[in-house]
Amino acid sequence: MRILAIETSCDETGVCLMEASGTFGADFRYTILGEALLSQIALHAPYGGVYPNLAKREHENNLVPVLSECLSQAGALKLGNSGKYDPTLLGREATLAALLTDFLSTHAKPSIDSIAVTTGPGLEPALWVGINFAKALASAWELPLVAVNHMEGHVLIATTTEDSVVAIEFPALSLLVSGGHTELVLSREWGDYTHVGSTRDDAAGEAFDKSARLLGIPYPGGPEISKLAAEARSENLPREIILPRPMLHEKSFDFSFSGLKTAVRREVERLQPLNDIHKKMFAREVEDAIVEVLVNKTARAAEKFGVQTIIVGGGVSANSYLKSEIYARLDSSGTVLFPTPILATDNARMIAFAGYFHAQRNEFANPSLIRAQGGLRIGASTT
Ligand code: KG4
Ligand code: ZN
Repeated sequence: MRILAIETSCDETGVCLMEASGTFGADFRYTILGEALLSQIALHAPYGGVYPNLAKREHENNLVPVLSECLSQAGALKLGNSGKYDPTLLGREATLAALLTDFLSTHAKPSIDSIAVTTGPGLEPALWVGINFAKALASAWELPLVAVNHMEGHVLIATTTEDSVVAIEFPALSLLVSGGHTELVLSREWGDYTHVGSTRDDAAGEAFDKSARLLGIPYPGGPEISKLAAEARSENLPREIILPRPMLHEKSFDFSFSGLKTAVRREVERLQPLNDIHKKMFAREVEDAIVEVLVNKTARAAEKFGVQTIIVGGGVSANSYLKSEIYARLDSSGTVLFPTPILATDNARMIAFAGYFHAQRNEFANPSLIRAQGGLRIGASTT
């Protein structure tokens, strides 16, 4: 089966064409035929975060070029005419409508069996662009649609090998850490998800980004904090800044990170003006605090539920300190799986995996019922 995946939930416009066969955990095999990703990070940086209407506009401008690039890599971009789509589907996206009409009237229908699209969670204006684009393509090419949960994509991409997925031993516990989410999810089989805990306020990635902002580091601050923290450790800088470890000793598996940024703000005010040494000490303490809470709760949940596999996914799973601490604490409790760092942050390949998983089970969506669901939970219905 050839599945085309579309991701626009936040500030990355992604399209991926995957050829796959078989069943996850058994004879699943895949090949990436084409993959293109356009990041809007630089555009959003001046706002200190992702600005939803700017993201929507950029997705509108970028989807057709990103699709062309993906199909071209796959050798599937052929001149011709693929017919028309129902124009009401892009009634609110005039720029995208013009670009798509032009594309479809000059290119032949590629050999594709289904289209997968992220329906949530994420920024609704951004999600809608991808959804309406997927519906328009599906209408022109007469293909079935799969509605994908972005967080399931983050879980599945962590389980992949070069051409398959690992044979997971269940129960598996996933720690999902991104700019918008911090969740612990228990799975008893492929595709099964039960919530164990989640953040009550800021997400882990948000805590990195907001702390970075208070230190004058541009969005997204996570990777830079991590770099400065590593320098603080290798230079063995003194521990003059102490930040809280929110909810570390509470029994619940929930998280709370908003107090951390408040504490960072207070300490930044106390130590003004900040020099480079201060920034490194802050970065190490922020990373230590976030990672300690994440690792501790994950370890306790892993023990309580007797898990065999620990999966870590989402943008923050690109953090090498989190990775080394999880391995140090949890390697003996089961198999630990992380995505390759470049696949940890948002991309369309992860949507292709989740899309294929559901397409293979004939779990297609009724296009008229698909809608953007900003707060979609993993395991909930995607339409
Ligand atoms: O999954 P993702 O790309 O987008 C969302 O779905 O939110 O995650 C983005 C988040 C940002 O908050 C970013 O700062 C964080 O992941 N991030 C990191 C690192 N790389 C990305 N945080 C800490 N260390 C990193 N190396
Ligand atoms: Zn994400």
